Amino acid sequence: MTFSLSDQTAVVFGAGSSGPGWGNGKAAAVAYARAGANVACIDLNMTAAEETAGIIESEGYRAIAIKGNVAIEDDVAAAVATTLSEFGKIEILHNNTGITPFGGPVDLDLADWDRAMDVNVKSVLLASRHVLPHMESQGYGVITNISSIAGIRIAGYDMSAYYTSKAAVNQLTRAIALQYAAKGIRANAILPGLMNTPLVQNAAGFKAHHGDAETQMAERDAISPTGKMGDAWDVAHAAVFLASREAKYINGVLLPVDGGLSCRAR
Ligand SMILES: NC(=O)c1ccc[n+]([C@@H]2O[C@H](COP(=O)([O-])OP(=O)(O)OC[C@H]3O[C@@H](n4cnc5c(N)ncnc54)[C@H](O)[C@@H]3O)[C@@H](O)[C@H]2O)c1
Repeated sequence: MTFSLSDQTAVVFGAGSSGPGWGNGKAAAVAYARAGANVACIDLNMTAAEETAGIIESEGYRAIAIKGNVAIEDDVAAAVATTLSEFGKIEILHNNTGITPFGGPVDLDLADWDRAMDVNVKSVLLASRHVLPHMESQGYGVITNISSIAGIRIAGYDMSAYYTSKAAVNQLTRAIALQYAAKGIRANAILPGLMNTPLVQNAAGFKAHHGDAETQMAERDAISPTGKMGDAWDVAHAAVFLASREAKYINGVLLPVDGGLSCRAR
């Protein structure tokens, strides 16, 4: 069975990638398009948004690139308005943006705490706030939030703000799911585990924790139950399934995409 999203529009916040290769948001945007959806690719980094939209168009699908900061309400409202004027409707909202500041309760820079809450949590609230009225009026919609197993487990890194923000994303997802279930709208969260993406490859905090980049990758592979980290396509394909009509009774779920990592007691 292949899952079709044809004639639908997906809005992906954080649709670029923080480095060369495939990040979770970039892969999700392309996977939605390959399933038939028109895709609005929104990113703080316009070059990254344009790259993703360009890949989609080069494969014969439709996409637009929009520059915007998902933590700023005016930017979110403008991105949603541009998407509606270009594609006419929105069936899928995909909230991907996330940052990973390092630090514990004493040494964490308070500005980093605020940034994590803005980019990881407030982003979900703002995007939902501006897309939900439209979904409600059409009686259909799917929201998929990219959380993390760090929202339900402590991953061994010193990242208080990240753990807290992802736990908040989980509960916000469930709150939306129940409030809108009877209106034809579903909301779920995907909880990636240890993934090999540009975000992890480039963030200085991860390298510092492991010592160097090579050790970082080897240790993350070794911790993964399968012996290998996952990749952005594992997250993207789960998102396509959750957005499909075949997933119509899946609502309020926190879906780990982690090779089984979150089953571990130690
Ligand atoms: N890679 C992993 O191991 C892993 C594990 C668990 C969860 N995640 C989650 O996956 C998501 C990110 O994955 P990715 O691989 O796409 O990351 P990425 O950093 O490669 O891409 C994120 C994109 O979001 C954009 N962005 C950042 N802040 C923004 C803002 N304020 N407004 C608009 N755009 C903004 C960046 O420019 C970038 O293009 C995050 O939510 C992260 O917490 C990743």
